[in-house]
Amino acid sequence: MIRPEKLELHMKPTPITKISESLYVKRDDRTGFTLGGNKIRKLEYLLKEAIESGAKRVLTCGGIQSNHARATAFAAKELGLEVALLLRGELPKDRQGNLLLNSLIGADIKTVSQVEWEDKETIMEYWAEELGDTYIIPEGGSNSLGSWGYVCAFEEIVKQGEFDHIFFATGSGGTAAGLLAGRDITKSFGTSLHTINVCDDENYFNNKIFSILDDFEKSYEVKVNRENFHIHDGFVGEGYAMASDQLIGQIKKLCQDTGILLDPVYTGKAFFGMQQVIKSQKLTGKALFIHTGGAFANFAYSDRYSK
Ligand SMILES: Cc1ncc(COP(=O)(O)O)c(C=O)c1O
Repeated sequence: MIRPEKLELHMKPTPITKISESLYVKRDDRTGFTLGGNKIRKLEYLLKEAIESGAKRVLTCGGIQSNHARATAFAAKELGLEVALLLRGELPKDRQGNLLLNSLIGADIKTVSQVEWEDKETIMEYWAEELGDTYIIPEGGSNSLGSWGYVCAFEEIVKQGEFDHIFFATGSGGTAAGLLAGRDITKSFGTSLHTINVCDDENYFNNKIFSILDDFEKSYEVKVNRENFHIHDGFVGEGYAMASDQLIGQIKKLCQDTGILLDPVYTGKAFFGMQQVIKSQKLTGKALFIHTGGAFANFAYSDRYSK
């Protein structure tokens, strides 16, 4: 197996918080790097390659409140790189959450409509060409190189304890691909992997995650077992980033009861989806939820919380 090199950007290991005898939370919201989250793990690899390629700037894309865009902007700036962001949606008059932070840090921001978004890769290629010396990071940092971040996370988890089930949110598939590879590399076949998709559907993510893994296998000369991996569709609600009043209430209550702050786009849907899955499928044993960050998105829902 070939193992790529990486930067050291975040605090390791992230702690695991015990919620009950059967439920634990891996605190990747506390990666410790400026503003945290799961993307930092992927960026350790992606930004290493960006720097080695001689790029002066990184360009990536995401939704208007993208955590990935914000994490990339802060990590890149700290490493002396410029940042360009292609964001899906319209710029509101009042910038909030991740969008506010991306503006504050001076990222070069371009927005596109939902229709134009279909051609995001081509738009990014043209823009990178125009800017020069630019390294493109795909949506969510989700490619085979970025997935190594979650191979490392799995290696960390194995040293911290044994879990029967690991649950997490999926938005672009890199976290899932990395955890599948990490389970194989650490030979933790007794652990079931479960993800809750926050957009699209099971079929879309089966294709997306497995195509990242196909690439991973080819690039790093390793075979990855894909069994005992479950995509739990049905928790997207009305759509990506659309939060029901029930979800907003659940996030608020969990925060008040435990001090753990989830978000309405990713971790909230995944955490409460997980609770339903555990109950309806009568899963037993120890479950670990990976808190992949995203707290800043809450600011874009401030009117909903203050009701
Ligand atoms: C907070 C948060 N959790 C989970 C995810 C999903 O991770 P992935 O894109 O690797 O599927 C994302 C990004 O998409 C995110 O921002």
